Amino acid sequence: MIYIKHILVTAALIYANGPLHLGHIRSTYLPADIYARYCRLAGNEVLYICATDEHGTPIIINAEKEKKGLKEFVDFYYEKDKHEFEQLGFSFDIFHRTSSVENKKMTEHIFAKLKENGHIYQKEVEQFYCEKCLRFLPDRLVVGTCPYCKSKGQYSDGCEVCGRVLKTSEISKPKCITCKTSPIMKKSMHYFFKLSFFSFKLKEYIKNPNFQTEVTNYVLNWIDSGLIDWDISRDMDWGVQIPGEKSKVFYVWFDAPIGYISSTVAATPEWENFWKKNSNAKSESKKMSRSSFNNSHAKREIVHFIGKDISYHHYLFWPAMLMGANDNFLLPNAIPVRGYLNLEHRKFSKSKGWFVSISDFLAEFQPDYLRYYQTAITPHSVEDANFVWKEFGTRINTELVSNLGNFVHRTLTLIKKISNSEIPKPELSNKDKKLLAKITETKEKTSELLEKFEFREAQEEIMHTTSEFNKYLSEREPWKDRNAKRVATTLYVSLRWVSALATLLQPFLPFSSQKLAKMLEIKILSWNDADKEYLKQGAKLGEIEMLFKKIEDKQIEKMEQRLKK
Ligand code: MSP
Ligand code: ZN
Repeated sequence: MIYIKHILVTAALIYANGPLHLGHIRSTYLPADIYARYCRLAGNEVLYICATDEHGTPIIINAEKEKKGLKEFVDFYYEKDKHEFEQLGFSFDIFHRTSSVENKKMTEHIFAKLKENGHIYQKEVEQFYCEKCLRFLPDRLVVGTCPYCKSKGQYSDGCEVCGRVLKTSEISKPKCITCKTSPIMKKSMHYFFKLSFFSFKLKEYIKNPNFQTEVTNYVLNWIDSGLIDWDISRDMDWGVQIPGEKSKVFYVWFDAPIGYISSTVAATPEWENFWKKNSNAKSESKKMSRSSFNNSHAKREIVHFIGKDISYHHYLFWPAMLMGANDNFLLPNAIPVRGYLNLEHRKFSKSKGWFVSISDFLAEFQPDYLRYYQTAITPHSVEDANFVWKEFGTRINTELVSNLGNFVHRTLTLIKKISNSEIPKPELSNKDKKLLAKITETKEKTSELLEKFEFREAQEEIMHTTSEFNKYLSEREPWKDRNAKRVATTLYVSLRWVSALATLLQPFLPFSSQKLAKMLEIKILSWNDADKEYLKQGAKLGEIEMLFKKIEDKQIEKMEQRLKK
């Protein structure tokens, strides 16, 4: 049954400090896009939100490295990311920025609310200060050794090896990132958010069955080992200014998640329908028939897609901020977390050249190849995976080209040849009917999986049914069958799956789905109608186009060579 909901889908806001890579896409932007597209097709009111995260020290470091001004630097990556996301078919309803006016306002508003509710206090703290560079050195401007796992070369705000978020000045053997001298400690007045106050509420909050237990287990561990109040101010100029202060801005992780709300504000005047508990979502009552809607079902959904490294921020900081603001904000209903992607068994590293840029990929292959392979190797879990060029080539060739592409092509070219592109008229046997029933089953099974965020399995389900239809087509051999009725039936049954594919593939392979719809001369309807017979007998099909092209060994070798250089 379908309920009309207001669904806000977000993908972690990408740092405007370097190019997009395949890892970002795998854990975050692609899964979020699949979900947003599916929810729209299922008839919901959906907003898919993303933005560039433009503050914080990583941006300062990289802009300095590239000898660019900060504004110029983030403008560059805003445009570049936006363009590349479009090329990959990510269907954001808005791609905004955390440096926006909306974000400044919303950050100030939430800060004021937290203060009003007694969750903010001021305290003098000692901060790293570089006497050579004459500046405070928050977060990533200092490197040193993790005091917990002893890993070297870690930034002072957190250890990438053990995943701990570190307190200011907790890191051992600190060095200034710019000039490598050891910093001194200097006093400064800072603002703290009472995260510890929310321990109990957060413990209750993470009992939500939508959350992955593997994630809530480690989140619970963090809570049990004691939450630390959170220093939300930084002594620098780049960021959202703290009201009434000079050279003090909010910590990037304070204004960044607020970017989810402020980007919604920028996207629609009805933003409260997505974020506020007691807003009266108008479109809901209009569209929903009373019989199909039961009030006990959640009418809104906020879903944040993230990679595993930012679980702490999304499961603890962010909900606590929303709770503390006490301003009728809804809390996230689901925070699907996915693991990291490595490239041929090594970490992505732009500086070491271990990297595949989106433009290099797209110069050689269509975007749906990337979407397909990434979904195929990404379970709904924090498990890491590997992008391996040879495996990429093999999977595309056997699964997309030979199975899916071939099935579609054979069906359509035969119809063109035999009935001059007219939709054939069948005489269905029980066996044919059984296979046709498989379309509805697949649609339903796929929805269930999509609603559980199991996108890999959902895609497999569609591919599996495609194999069955392919087998049917091969066994009935319509190309040499002399029985015209039987040929028409075979092609009709096959065509029904082709037309279902145009819709079912939409969340996964939007470009191919669009091409298919064009060939069938249909409009992509709704998810619910995917299994319907909406190709009318006697109607004609459009021009046939190849969906997929075989990947040649030399293309794969070229990509491998490029890495080795
Ligand atoms: N700006 C923060 C998020 C703020 S959300 C309010 C951030 N940005 S990021 O650019 O570093 O990462 C963007 C997304 O990509 C995050 O979900 C992150 O977990 C994910 N990944 C970054 N590197 C990745 C891999 N190598 N593999 C998989 N996901 C990766 O974090
Ligand atoms: Zn220095």
